[in-house]
Amino acid sequence: MSTPSLLILAGDGIGPEVMIEVRKIIGWFGANRGLKFDVTEDLVGGAAYDKHGTPLTDETMAKAQSVDAVLLGAVGGPKYDKLDFSVKPERGLLRLRKEMDLFANLRPAQCFDALADFSSLKKDVVAGLDIMIIRELTSGVYFGEPRGIFKEGNERVGINTQRYTESEIARVARSAFEMARRRNNKVCSMEKANVMESGILWRDVVQEVHDAEYPDVELSHMYADAGAMQLTRWPKQFDVIVTDNLFGDLLSDLAAMLTGSLGMLPSASLGLPMANGRPKALYEPVHGSAPDIAGQGKANPCACILSFAMALRYSFDQGDEATRLEKAVENVLADGIRTADLMQSKDGTPATTTEMGDAVIRALDASL
Ligand code: IPM
Ligand code: MG
Repeated sequence: MSTPSLLILAGDGIGPEVMIEVRKIIGWFGANRGLKFDVTEDLVGGAAYDKHGTPLTDETMAKAQSVDAVLLGAVGGPKYDKLDFSVKPERGLLRLRKEMDLFANLRPAQCFDALADFSSLKKDVVAGLDIMIIRELTSGVYFGEPRGIFKEGNERVGINTQRYTESEIARVARSAFEMARRRNNKVCSMEKANVMESGILWRDVVQEVHDAEYPDVELSHMYADAGAMQLTRWPKQFDVIVTDNLFGDLLSDLAAMLTGSLGMLPSASLGLPMANGRPKALYEPVHGSAPDIAGQGKANPCACILSFAMALRYSFDQGDEATRLEKAVENVLADGIRTADLMQSKDGTPATTTEMGDAVIRALDASL
């Protein structure tokens, strides 16, 4: 098989600095595990806008379609707040998701033992937490038509449309059931069937897919607001949560913060299999561009490094190597090496972004 290809889109804010550390990790797997990648880099978000006047050029879009996996850093920043909606940095990311048809967004919320104290919840509520949120990513209110700000009489009206087809619901439901079978065999589906027709359809279709194809998986349904409440009350009741684009956006941020460390959480956005059998895929940390600390060497590269681990697992069928990398990160934390976001005021000097990346490399060396 030819060398697998990776497109790196580091983006804005802390994206470029955390991506430097990921490149070291990619290099390590090439040098030590015979896993070579053909890596190219390009611009997305504000960085692309600054150079080309658009957050994602057609050329970059075409490249993203042709590679085996895309690794993205982060997009956005205050500098771009006043831009027209159509060229905002976020539009670059949304175009990638939509045109690559990355309908299943996997957002694990895992509490690292060494970090359980960082959660705002009690330690016993979060210690050992390991849940997977699967968010539908290419439809719903993010993309539904009609949308816009219109004139109605003498005032303006803002309109967005929540729209889901049966097939859109069914395919993300299948992703959730497949994931559950690899984990603890439980899916909880969240919507607002009490107030939204799209929620009623969502609930029906998830149940139908379950009954026809995955009767062995335990399925429950919850209204999304109750789901948010249960996530903070006793998150360990969940294994896999499947939900729509907007609820998934909210619930995944909530779940991420339960773990106490947004700087640790990766994500994968997967589409249909390509000709070579690999899914269309984009991997990115859950944290944003964090403009307030960008360029200061303070950013935690772990979420982006762990996103590469997800790429190893879901795109390149290298589950053991993914686990090796995840263990290396865990060992670094257990050794007390921390970036500033993972420290309490009484702790010593924080590690810089580079030091954190180097520590992960040393832990990888030690794993051989
Ligand atoms: C996310 C982000 C994005 C979203 C933004 C940056 C467009 O919040 O990935 O969760 O709303 O989907
Ligand atoms: Mg979000």
